[in-house]
Amino acid sequence: MAMEILNGYDRKGIEKAVSLLRKGEVVAFPTETVYGLGADATNSYAVAKIFEIKKRPKFDPLIVHIGDMDDLFNLTEEIPNEAYSLAKRFWPGPLTMILKKKEKVPGIVTAGLPTVAVRMPSHPVALELIKTFGGPIAAPSANPFGYMSPTKALHVARFLHSKIELILDGGDTPYGIESTIVSFEDGKTYIHRHGAISMEELSEVINPVLERGSSGGKCVAPGELPYHYAPHRPLRIIDGVEEIGEHDSSYLAFTSPDFNPKSKYTKVLSPSGDMREAAANFFSYLIELDREDVKIIYAQRIPKHGLGKAMMERLEKASKKYTHITY
Ligand code: TXA
Ligand code: MG
Repeated sequence: MAMEILNGYDRKGIEKAVSLLRKGEVVAFPTETVYGLGADATNSYAVAKIFEIKKRPKFDPLIVHIGDMDDLFNLTEEIPNEAYSLAKRFWPGPLTMILKKKEKVPGIVTAGLPTVAVRMPSHPVALELIKTFGGPIAAPSANPFGYMSPTKALHVARFLHSKIELILDGGDTPYGIESTIVSFEDGKTYIHRHGAISMEELSEVINPVLERGSSGGKCVAPGELPYHYAPHRPLRIIDGVEEIGEHDSSYLAFTSPDFNPKSKYTKVLSPSGDMREAAANFFSYLIELDREDVKIIYAQRIPKHGLGKAMMERLEKASKKYTHITY
């Protein structure tokens, strides 16, 4: 794929980026912290491409970048007063807040979590992009898995050339480190990731700000949190429908089954076996199949290449939760 680097301060660059985002493509753009790899946050299929490009072996929840407070109200519920105070002081800017998500936020954006991470960046190119696009943009840092975050358009080009069509160049990112991430629980504010806004600065607005793991803190590190979320029903990985023994069950198939499964409910991730389509459906189907009236969820083994690895990692975790159950 031919890759272009366009000046983000130029109308032409913004318009090209917006037209790619509208087509469900992924574009790299500068923020005041590091460069991000963005897609339409409401389009699961587009978001699946981010994981594919980053080659993440697992799904991490993404930060959703917004352009104004209306976007925040569209994405989240039950915004605590502390969040308003922090937004007033630090937005637009390098502060990310974890809040309860509205149902419509796609599961692939939040890795199946009931919360979503949101920030309003202050970089003029990022803001212009979000506002012209007219909706929220989900973006992790624009590095392949295991690399450092890019602070120059050239880093992104070196990392991801041939994988993306466009990098918006906004020069060197001013902070050069990622945003600070906070969450709220029972009237308390927790820091999840130290970043561009210091604990001292946060404490000027909210006092105290607690370190995760400090006394009484129920929160865990962002890297750990997603994996605590698994279906309530036990899950078993199987190779084919013939292994389904229980009628009161759900079946998460990777591709279309050869014959009718015994399960009450079946969802097919991708009839043609397309990883990207499968990943886009993965979390919402799994949540849908986790029903009161089933005893077990069967999941068809997914080939461990591309996004299949991330999906299998998830299924394996979920299946280990109930190793004592045999069906
Ligand atoms: O400065 C930044 O934050 C950059 C720019 C591009 O905005 N983005 C960034 O994204 O650093 P990423 O994906 O590299 O890191 C986001 C972190 C991950 O560690 C993820 O686990 C955590 O945020 N996170 C996202 N949503 C979360 C949620 N709902 N609950 C807990 N942690 C979450
Ligand atoms: Mg990152």
